[in-house]
Formats: sequence, structure tokens, C-alpha cells
Amino acid sequence: TAAPATHSAGTGVFSRTRARISARTLRTDRWWLPPLFTALGLAAFVTYATIRSFVRTAYWVPEFHYLTPFYSPCLSDSCAPGSAHFGTPFPELPMWIPLGFVVLPFLLGFRLTCYYYRKAYYRSVWFSPPACAVAEPHARYTGESRLPLIIQNAHRYFFYVALVVSLVNTYDAITAFHGSGGGFGFGLGNIVLAVNVILLWAYTLSCHSCRHIAGGRLKNFSAHPVRYWYWTQISKLNTRHMALAWTTLGTLVLTDFYVMLVASHTISDLRFVN
Ligand code: FES
Repeated sequence: TAAPATHSAGTGVFSRTRARISARTLRTDRWWLPPLFTALGLAAFVTYATIRSFVRTAYWVPEFHYLTPFYSPCLSDSCAPGSAHFGTPFPELPMWIPLGFVVLPFLLGFRLTCYYYRKAYYRSVWFSPPACAVAEPHARYTGESRLPLIIQNAHRYFFYVALVVSLVNTYDAITAFHGSGGGFGFGLGNIVLAVNVILLWAYTLSCHSCRHIAGGRLKNFSAHPVRYWYWTQISKLNTRHMALAWTTLGTLVLTDFYVMLVASHTISDLRFVN
């Protein structure tokens, strides 16, 4: 493999204190496979989510009150009748504004600044570096100390918003226990929505910022048994953060896809009650 094209002598991995190796890497394994899969996975999700967020079709099943998470909360006069669970403080929106516009930027920010996703796209998109012991193409490294990457430090604030969004999604999942004739109902869609929400909670609570909020900056745990307990539980979840990050991308797509199929009458919901 060739050495990084943009290197200038004396900077980055070519600084005088680093070993003088002209090859970009001495690794002989297929180190590029994980970043490639990561890039493909992220691109697939972003493509699907972007298209679905803009199309404004088949996002709400009025009969059973199923609402896709991509449109929740729906807060404008453009929302399908019944889908705006929290009122419509916004007027009709032009087509270029997604109906979930109020929270989508925050959810995007939450995922973009997530400690796991940073690792994922720093490697697979930014190549900084693409893998262990593989030199990056960049000559300089400024880390997260200036724009735009200094925004990564705002992750904990995105986390607070994500908590509220998880509550909204929970509300949506509960109100979806709705039968076609009114009253209680229960179908396969409820299981899909509920599993999605549970996993979203698991992803959100396994966040590194959440762990720090629960048990960070304590001088001794014995004086704070409650916070220590939370910290211990979150730490267990936190070890699965990467898996939850990917699982929730999958369940978000599956949930939206299921709602789309039912809302467009492509399939009918499997009903257990009503
Ligand atoms: Fe991944 Fe916070 S959501 S670290």
C-alpha cells in the first residue's frame, strides 16, 4: 500500500520522532473489511431514513394508532389526522421540511456525537485512522479541540434531548394499544413498536454520558449508594453500547418498514385482540 498521499515531511506520522516507515501499513490482514462494512451499514441507514423522513406517506395507521418513530412527535398541520399526539403548534410545512423536523436534528446530533459512532465514522469515513497501525491520509491532527469537532463535547446535551424523545416514543407505543373499534387492541405492530422502544431506551441509557451523569465525579461511592447502583447498572449496559447502536438502527428501520406496510395496506396487521 502506498504511503499517505498528502503527507508533508515532519508532520503527523512522518514527524521526526516517529519510526521511518514508508509503507502506509505493514498489516497483511484484511484490516479494511470492518471500516468498509461500517461505511456500508451507515450509508444504508442514512439513505433509508432520509427517504422515509421526506416522503410523507404511510407513516400513520389510523385504525390502530401506529406511528413510525421517524415522524414522532408530529407537530404541524401537515400531519395526518390523529397522528399529532401533542397538538399542532406549527402550521402546514413545505415538502422540503420533514414532519419530524423538531427532533430529527437532535437525534442526528445524538448519534453523530455518540462515542461509539465517532469511532465508527472516524475510521470508515474520515480515515483518521482507518484501522490500528494504518496511517491516516491526513497530515495534521487537531483532535476535537476546534470546530467542527469541538461540537462533539455537546454530546451530553443531545443525551438530555434523547431522553425526552424516548419518553415520546414510549407514549406513542402505549397509545398504539388501540383497537379498530376504539378501546384496547393488540397486534403484531404493538410488539414491533414496544421492542423498538425498549431497545431505544437500552441504547440511550447505555450512553457514556449517561454513565458519567449517574456516577461520575464522585470522590467515593460508599457515600452515594443510589448513584453507585445506577452507575453499576448503566456500566453493564454500557459494555453493549456498540451492539445497541447497531441494533437500534435496525429496529428503527424495521419498525418504520412495518408501519409503512400496514399503513399502505400492503399487508394487514396480525391482530391478537380486536
Ligand atoms: Fe453513544 Fe452517548 S449515545 S455515547
